[in-house]
Amino acid sequence: MKLISPKLQFALALLALASAPVLGAAPNDTEQQAWDDFVAWVKVQPGVPNRSEWQRYQEKLVADGFTAEAAGARMGLLGKLRATHGSDLGRVYFNRLYAARDHSRFIATPNTFLVDVAKTLQPGKALDVAMGQGRNAVYLAALGWDVTGVDLADEGLRIAQENAAAAGTKLTTVNKSFEEFDYGEAQWDLICFIYTDAPVIDPVYVARIIKALKPGGLLLIERPHRRLDVEDPELGALLPKDFPNALPRAWDGLRILRYEDLLGVSDWQQTSANREQLKLRIIRLLAEKR
Ligand SMILES: C[S@@+](CC[C@H](N)C(=O)[O-])C[C@H]1O[C@@H](n2cnc3c(N)ncnc32)[C@H](O)[C@@H]1O
Repeated sequence: MKLISPKLQFALALLALASAPVLGAAPNDTEQQAWDDFVAWVKVQPGVPNRSEWQRYQEKLVADGFTAEAAGARMGLLGKLRATHGSDLGRVYFNRLYAARDHSRFIATPNTFLVDVAKTLQPGKALDVAMGQGRNAVYLAALGWDVTGVDLADEGLRIAQENAAAAGTKLTTVNKSFEEFDYGEAQWDLICFIYTDAPVIDPVYVARIIKALKPGGLLLIERPHRRLDVEDPELGALLPKDFPNALPRAWDGLRILRYEDLLGVSDWQQTSANREQLKLRIIRLLAEKR
């Protein structure tokens, strides 16, 4: 039985795409133009984004007069540029996904790990990194937290503000990448990384986040990873790879309160009938700044 739907593959591809570094070797003008043309085309496609758009763009190039060979070469170039320019495309994809209000690829209710942890806490100042459409940030704000959400996708932030207003609460939203955002120093009682590919095992980034936490402040991470026991030919390459205990090692400057590495149901996948059958490797970490 085939359990992994094309939709899930695409959602996970977005997670992988979201991890593309913002900075990289600059393409030359012709390459930049090719990339900009592609992103502009993707931006105006109707409905929920999907991977067949790469194929359709190749067909469009041929319809525009490219030879089949030239169109293939252009797609090869775009595939290469995605490694360094993926964040442009990530913004467009996530904006379209959020604008379509289609929740078949992610759940719109708050993350259960966060809900479980938040129950035990006094509200304070929280930062939701790569907040998306605000399902977690709005939940915290409704509990009385002063929440800031950062995301590249401006449409996600706009919808988060709408959701906050509908819930009778407020959020601060910042349209920046997690690389650019100024996390400050001793600012936050809680920093959340929920289903984001922010570089949470990069020592330089980890040091920025630890500095930004208040003493006693908490770090919360949940995200899917590549399984360690079996290779998954369909999903393997799309999920972040780590070595066992990579997260607790990266954050050993904090007091680890909770760490789980288990097969579970991902928040970012189909919410339809096969949801309960889809088990991904999910990693959760809760740690405190001493
Ligand atoms: C899989 S979604 C998760 C959203 C939210 N945390 C949730 O759990 O519903 C990943 C989010 O990361 C955002 N994103 C991708 N790359 C980013 C970057 N470099 N900086 C900030 N946000 C980014 C996307 O716009 C998207 O909203």
